[in-house]
Order: sequence, then C-alpha cells, then structure tokens
Amino acid sequence: MVTPQAKATLNDIGTEELAHLEMVGTIVRQLIEGLSDREIEEGGFAPYYVDHGLGIYPLNASGVPFSAATLQSTGDPVTDLTENLAAEQKARSTYEYLIRMSDDPDVIGPLKFLREREIVHFQRFGEALGIVQDYLDEKRVFIPQPSCEA
Ligand SMILES: [Fe+2]
Repeated sequence: MVTPQAKATLNDIGTEELAHLEMVGTIVRQLIEGLSDREIEEGGFAPYYVDHGLGIYPLNASGVPFSAATLQSTGDPVTDLTENLAAEQKARSTYEYLIRMSDDPDVIGPLKFLREREIVHFQRFGEALGIVQDYLDEKRVFIPQPSCEA
C-alpha cells in the first residue's frame, strides 16, 4: 500500500477480521455442542457432521470451503481498496441476513456487533481510499542526481 496510513488501516482491519472469524467459530461451536443425532439429522447438519463432526470448518452457506480464491488482490491500491469497500458491504448484508434468520439473543447480539464493525471497516477503507487518491494525485518533481561517474 502506498501510504503509511493505508498500511495501518489494512493491518488493523486484517487483524480484527481474524478475531471475527474466531467469534463466528465460537458461536457455531456453542450452537452445535451437545446436539443429538436426531437434531443433527433434522437440522440439516448431517452432511457437515459426516465430514467434520463438531469441529469448526469454514464453509459458506452453500457448503463451499473457504479458500484463497475468495480473496482479491490486483496490486493497484485504488482497485484493491474499492474491492475492500465492497467486501465490507457484503459482510454487513450477510450479518443482517443471519440476524433476520435467528431468534437467539445470544447469537443476535454478537452478530449485531460484527455488523457494526463491518460498517466501521467500510468507513475506514473509504478514508484510506481518499488518502491514497490524494497521494497519487500529488504532483512530484524528480531532480536528477549528479552521477558518481564523471
Ligand atoms: Fe470487515
């Protein structure tokens, strides 16, 4: 990333996202702990259970495992920050769908917290994008240095 502020933003948000993964994994673990065989089958959890038991294995709602293929990086800071903005909105809407589907206050509370953090991440990526665009728009003067070879 081209500015120290943008680097710091990426570092902070990336670190926080790993903590969010841990929170979601903990929620799932608490929800599936102690399920009976009947609850596993009736709840549609059997295919997951057969492969992973009660272990936490990152999948999307369609059952596709997490992989680096879900990540984007072009190396262009404006493109990548814009992608990050979209990713934050996708995360926010996913949390909102999950909140709508739940009736458990012990699940809804943490999901609301996570949704709020995605909004903050969106705002911080927007600030970083502005900083990067300002930096890229600055005029620069390159002064030729005298050669060491005469
Ligand atoms: Fe986020």
